[in-house]
Amino acid sequence: MAYINDNFTKIQHRYLFAEIAKRVAAYKEANPAAKIISLGIGDVTQPLASAVTQAMKKAVDDCTTTQNFHGYGPEQGYDFLRSKIIENDYAKRGISLTVDEIFISDGAKSDLGNIGDILSVNNIIGVTDPVYPVYVDTNSMAGRTIKYIPCTAENGFTGDIPSEKIDVMYLCFPNNPTGAVITRQGLKQWVDYALKNDTLILYDSAYEAFITDPAIPHSIYEIDGSKECAIEFRSFSKTAGFTGIRCGYTVIPNELKIQSESGKRVALNPVWNRRQCSKFNGASYISQRGAEAVFSAEGYSQTRATIQYYLTNAQIIRDSLSKSGLEVFGGENAPYIWVRTPEHDSWKFFDHLLHRAQVVVTPGAGFGPSGEGYIRITAFGTRENTKEAIERIERSL
Ligand code: MLT
Repeated sequence: MAYINDNFTKIQHRYLFAEIAKRVAAYKEANPAAKIISLGIGDVTQPLASAVTQAMKKAVDDCTTTQNFHGYGPEQGYDFLRSKIIENDYAKRGISLTVDEIFISDGAKSDLGNIGDILSVNNIIGVTDPVYPVYVDTNSMAGRTIKYIPCTAENGFTGDIPSEKIDVMYLCFPNNPTGAVITRQGLKQWVDYALKNDTLILYDSAYEAFITDPAIPHSIYEIDGSKECAIEFRSFSKTAGFTGIRCGYTVIPNELKIQSESGKRVALNPVWNRRQCSKFNGASYISQRGAEAVFSAEGYSQTRATIQYYLTNAQIIRDSLSKSGLEVFGGENAPYIWVRTPEHDSWKFFDHLLHRAQVVVTPGAGFGPSGEGYIRITAFGTRENTKEAIERIERSL
């Protein structure tokens, strides 16, 4: 007899963004003429940099010849991309890594979930709350216990260092959903906690490209000792518009070792490599060539211009809503604006905005208990839609 993994029958019925899509579809069906603007899921709207599309076209052309055709690539990714990542994302910030410490993926979401494959189901998982649902859902699917660490306006949405012991701690800065950032000192406190308690930090820095304040760390490896306790996840999705192309990467330093259940210290890098070789065939050659072009002079300036476009949207959202009397957070070093709702119930405010303004946002409660009383607005819309959505929200208040 086949048995299902029962954990799947216990988790929340739908993925957050699927639930939102379902509510929006129902509204659309009842109101076919409604012109809905979505500032809900953080999906990009601006075209890829021409340096990236040209590199991908060239990669397609490569595949038309026997000589340059690419079949299965290395499971860890091509060295042409791994070395560019090391040079541009790390060496320039004084962090030294080697190519074998970089694993190219099809995006950070997959690896943030898949990393659980190499971790014991007995680990106690810590998440900052509100939280990107993928951390909670994937660990619940595996049957792990999850502890929520409240992130509130009072603690700057960075969470207090726990007094209890957490085995694996997810951190995401700039944060999804609150748009908060963590200072070097704040991040050092987490690293110190991890080193003291033998905690593994899973550091999601998918939004680091949106940091504008030079004092804010982009990588956890800017903090001493972090290579012994942290894995870092990054993505080209938000940095360079790859949500549909798919490419990201995971860094597992060679120094990083954790305990096996039989009491030995085991290096995680070769274990993840083993997992990838059996379960993953690499991101496509075409998307990796596109990602490589993000680091060219042209690609860099084009992608920076797009990031600036989204940051200007964020500023428009922040300024307009705060003028209307709403309390806003984030959006200065991140593409998300976290807004306190006029009434406590965030799903109710979501429904209000959908029905009265035809604007889709993300209800804070969908990100965890501490998200109640807030909504998240994304800055990834077009300028025109962003301005119109904000005007409509203001009129609906
Ligand atoms: C979000 O809206 O939180 C993100 O777009 C989801 C993701 O990156 O997977």
